[in-house]
Amino acid sequence: MFQLQLDPESNRMASTIPRVREDFFIHWGQVCQDPSVVAKVVLVGGEKVGCVVAFPRDGQTHVAYWISPDRWGQGIATAALRLLLVEIDCRPLHATVAVTNRASLRVLAKCGFQRQGSRQVAASDRHPAGTDELLVLP
Ligand SMILES: CC(C)(COP(=O)(O)OP(=O)(O)OC[C@H]1O[C@@H](n2cnc3c(N)ncnc32)[C@H](O)[C@@H]1OP(=O)(O)O)[C@@H](O)C(=O)NCCC(=O)NCCS
Repeated sequence: MFQLQLDPESNRMASTIPRVREDFFIHWGQVCQDPSVVAKVVLVGGEKVGCVVAFPRDGQTHVAYWISPDRWGQGIATAALRLLLVEIDCRPLHATVAVTNRASLRVLAKCGFQRQGSRQVAASDRHPAGTDELLVLP
């Protein structure tokens, strides 16, 4: 997962800045201890190809996912998110996506998420400045 989150094209799509190794393992060490987080590795035929996560943010539950580039376009993110939606009964669920990330917006639409609006995002150590689309699954 550390190597996957370094991929430049994935970061361009997601409008993210990858974590350095130490920060990555501290972050995910904390996430995996947090009972309010549901974090799953996505397996295809036993091979690890990504992850899908539900996590708290600003009093809401958000979902996110990340799939290995050599597996894009095979319906894996959509299938993984659908499985997560069966597993967690929390609603509404929220997602925040860079407006330019058409593939991720399509995944969310196929899983029933509805667009709520957009917001400007200031640059941070994790994101360049940009515009995010806000989506909700009621
Ligand atoms: C976004 C991402 C998760 C999609 O994973 P995936 O397994 O390829 O997704 P799926 O195959 O389930 O579905 C992708 C959909 O987007 C569509 N799509 C792909 N590229 C697209 C583009 N440039 N414009 C419009 N639609 C696009 C596909 O055609 C497909 O829709 P369809 O089934 O109607 O044909 C993957 O590209 C990824 O991990 N990107 C980097 C990390 C990221 O962006 N994560 C999401 C952060 S919010």
